[in-house]
Amino acid sequence: MKIIPTISDIRHCVQNWRNAGERIAFVPTMGNLHAGHLQLVREAKCHATKVIVSIFVNPTQFGVNEDFSDYPRTETRDCEQLAAEGCDLVFLPTVETIYVPTAQTFVSVSDISKNYCGATRAGHFDGVATVVCKLFNIVQPDVALFGLKDFQQFAVIQTLVRDLHLPIELIGVPTVRELDGLAMSSRNGYLNEQEREIAPQLYRTLQQAHDNLKFGQSIVDVENVAISELTQVGFVVDYFKVARRSNLQAAMPNDNALIILVAAKLGKTRLIDNLWLEK
Ligand code: PAJ
Repeated sequence: MKIIPTISDIRHCVQNWRNAGERIAFVPTMGNLHAGHLQLVREAKCHATKVIVSIFVNPTQFGVNEDFSDYPRTETRDCEQLAAEGCDLVFLPTVETIYVPTAQTFVSVSDISKNYCGATRAGHFDGVATVVCKLFNIVQPDVALFGLKDFQQFAVIQTLVRDLHLPIELIGVPTVRELDGLAMSSRNGYLNEQEREIAPQLYRTLQQAHDNLKFGQSIVDVENVAISELTQVGFVVDYFKVARRSNLQAAMPNDNALIILVAAKLGKTRLIDNLWLEK
């Protein structure tokens, strides 16, 4: 497995592969890899002959009071895990490589970035859209894979690819969970022992909300009950919302393809999760 920090070397390697007729899959990450990330790599191998993973903790998607400096950086272990999965190339750039100091161009995907995580994390999705666009331009993959745990992020990137006519196929990969249901996340490592015990309640509440909606309870009631239950066990809920899956607009009574989205803090740790619902 190659580990490459520079854009010119990535381009050179990708060009050689293209000339040899390879199909290239790309998995962007911020490192501190867990089984969720590795599932994306495994899935990538089913869609291409070469797999590239980037590890880059992207400063522009963190708010000023967020965890950019504390974000776990474990590149050596990450690369060992990627090699064991059969990844072909890791792109490991510095911040200066991705953001030239005189940069003036940023990417913003308007409507879909506004609500949910976008409402409390100002500028977050602009940072994501900008870095993903840059990474796509550097790697120029045929296919790129993202986790559906970060559903709004996936929707933002789908919109970006559509609007900018990027010739990249996007694949969303279902959320990989711990045995107790907690969605795997690099931020789970921030949880203390007591918080870690409470954390799976997030997914259980989503499942309960799912069942209650199936039984015909109103969306407003389901949302309110979920928020109060999560608050009771110690979460500070950012949002718990039922939305239309196609565009994340508020769900209407006749909508069938829905998604229940939640973000909540346990102590200092912000967790997000979601569950699909077919009505
Ligand atoms: P990061 O949080 O490292 O996640 C990298 C990819 O792994 C994302 O597509 C994310 O949705 C996926 N992922 C994370 N946890 C997962 C889980 N439990 N199951 C399945 N997939 C999971 O998301 C980012 O990095 C960044 O925003 C990035 C897209 C790299 C841009 O900087």
